[in-house]
Amino acid sequence: MTTPTRKSVTVPMLQVMKSAGEKIVMVTAYDSTFARIVDDAGVDAILVGDSVATVMQGHTNTIPVTLTEMAYHTALVRRAQPKALVVGDLPFGSYQVGAGQGIESSIVLMKAGAQCVKLEGGTTVATTIEAITRSDIPVMGHIGLTPQSVHRMGGHKVQGRQDGVEPGGRQRLLDDAHAVEQAGAFAIVLEGIPTELAQEITSKISIPTIGIGAGSFCDGQVLVMHDILGLSERELTFTKKYIDMKSLATSAFQEFAQDVRNGSWPDDKHSFH
Ligand code: KIV
Repeated sequence: MTTPTRKSVTVPMLQVMKSAGEKIVMVTAYDSTFARIVDDAGVDAILVGDSVATVMQGHTNTIPVTLTEMAYHTALVRRAQPKALVVGDLPFGSYQVGAGQGIESSIVLMKAGAQCVKLEGGTTVATTIEAITRSDIPVMGHIGLTPQSVHRMGGHKVQGRQDGVEPGGRQRLLDDAHAVEQAGAFAIVLEGIPTELAQEITSKISIPTIGIGAGSFCDGQVLVMHDILGLSERELTFTKKYIDMKSLATSAFQEFAQDVRNGSWPDDKHSFH
């Protein structure tokens, strides 16, 4: 447990952390119970990620999750009253139409309890990022392996291995990072790109980079909660299972079933008279 006096993390604090060379830690959470646990663990930011579509809703990608569902999960996380910065993730279809739609969707997540929003894309969404930030809603960018572009990428594939200015090309990712920074984003997630490219981006832009599958040179790191806890079906090279909670949970449920079946649950201590 962290001390109850821990200061609330704010958007400007992440920039200060980059300048001081302090690593930023972000973890996803989708409900109050786990938001409280990750906050007590002392993370700097909680991402209410659209990964909720895969790790909680059972979809194979993040495309189906709706803005209403993202607002619901954001509200659950906010109810934990975390000290960590709450990042609301704009889902597919909630900003692709244009800047106006992006502002309106961001307002929905902010009213649900987000303190900033995250959206995927680089040069093509720069005007949307600019418009949202001009509405005083801080924006976190996200480039590289952007799961909402799964069909364009032909799967969840590492990006930036080939040179070029086409989407996913090395030069394009450098351009994307600059575009997101210039548009006014306060931080940027770099996902699924070579370590060397992430290092170059991190040294060339002034805003903090938060990596997942982008090597160790980023200003911070993010992981999906279910991957850390071993609750995820997916075994990706760039995630790490810190605990096998799936096995622990299965054992607990098996033990309960056994107790019920052999009549040892409930015992007298857990019964009323
Ligand atoms: O939705 C999510 O969990 C994300 C992280 C993988 C960065 O976008």
